[in-house]
Amino acid sequence: MRYIDQAPHFVQLHHPRPGATHPELIAGLLATPARIAPKFFYDALGSRLFDAITELPEYYPTRTEAAVFAEHGADMARHVPEGAVLVDLGAGSCAKAARLFPVLQPSAYVPVDISVDYLRDTLAALQQRHADLPMLGLGMDFSTRFALGADATTWLSERALAQQPRVVFYPGSSIGNFLPDEALALLCQAHAVCEAGGTGGGLLIGVDRVKPRAVLEPAYDDALGVTAAFNRNLLRHVNRLLAADFAPAAWQHVGLYNEDESRIEMHLQSIGAQTVRWPGGERRFADGERLHTENSYKWIPEDFETLLREAGFGAPRHWTDANGWFSVFWAPA
Ligand code: AVI
Repeated sequence: MRYIDQAPHFVQLHHPRPGATHPELIAGLLATPARIAPKFFYDALGSRLFDAITELPEYYPTRTEAAVFAEHGADMARHVPEGAVLVDLGAGSCAKAARLFPVLQPSAYVPVDISVDYLRDTLAALQQRHADLPMLGLGMDFSTRFALGADATTWLSERALAQQPRVVFYPGSSIGNFLPDEALALLCQAHAVCEAGGTGGGLLIGVDRVKPRAVLEPAYDDALGVTAAFNRNLLRHVNRLLAADFAPAAWQHVGLYNEDESRIEMHLQSIGAQTVRWPGGERRFADGERLHTENSYKWIPEDFETLLREAGFGAPRHWTDANGWFSVFWAPA
């Protein structure tokens, strides 16, 4: 860890090293069924393709969540404490949190993202627009373990913010990309982060809900093929990381709703039999064999409330849209 910027401050706990992800990628490629973790979607092009997905008419989550915040933001502000340290998980462009600054009036903003360079740039621009709001960027892979860490705690103490309530903000239903057990582990860690601050803190989280297949499947298999491009781009990224020879055009995008598991599954299906090679290994795929690339769980509010309580949070409340498609939960620590 080291400070790499002055204003805003930045702590880099994640140092991408060439080759570091190889064992994980190779283990997934050799597994049956083969899999690649969804975090590998987000190289520079993948992040742009995801932004394009959020503009698609079929992809309802982003605009539905925005509508929930627009309609119920004032009511949310009655429960979420003013003057909190706002910890933004998977902050990306920081735009969603920045829209809440006027309502929540945070005392500090702490965005967290694995995409270190992107976060450093967006945060520098945001700090210029909000010169008086203390900001600390945390470059970390919170999907494996989430904690603020000693440097962030010192930074808060030096600004007399250690005893302010902490609000962890996790929008976009990214929690849906975790298996339920992993989601519980992350929520437990979020709870510990909130509890370490002053009283009144909690979690503000966006959660996509179970709904008809006719709405869900087009959202993950759109007419323009943007989601298909997003899915196949993963193979280009893996080619770069592993020096592998995936031919993206030889894979068909599959996005389907698995009703028993309440989750969208994305796969890439082999068109014809093929062998993919990388230095030191290979994997043969039969015609029609699938490579699992993502789960996106859809929750019913009662089950998500149970999960929040299991993670240690108090009585949650949630706000939703007119269709009941998406909920934003406030769970006090
Ligand atoms: C980032 N995450 C919440 C998106 C989702 O809906 O699960 C990722 C995504 N995958 C395909 N389309 C969007």
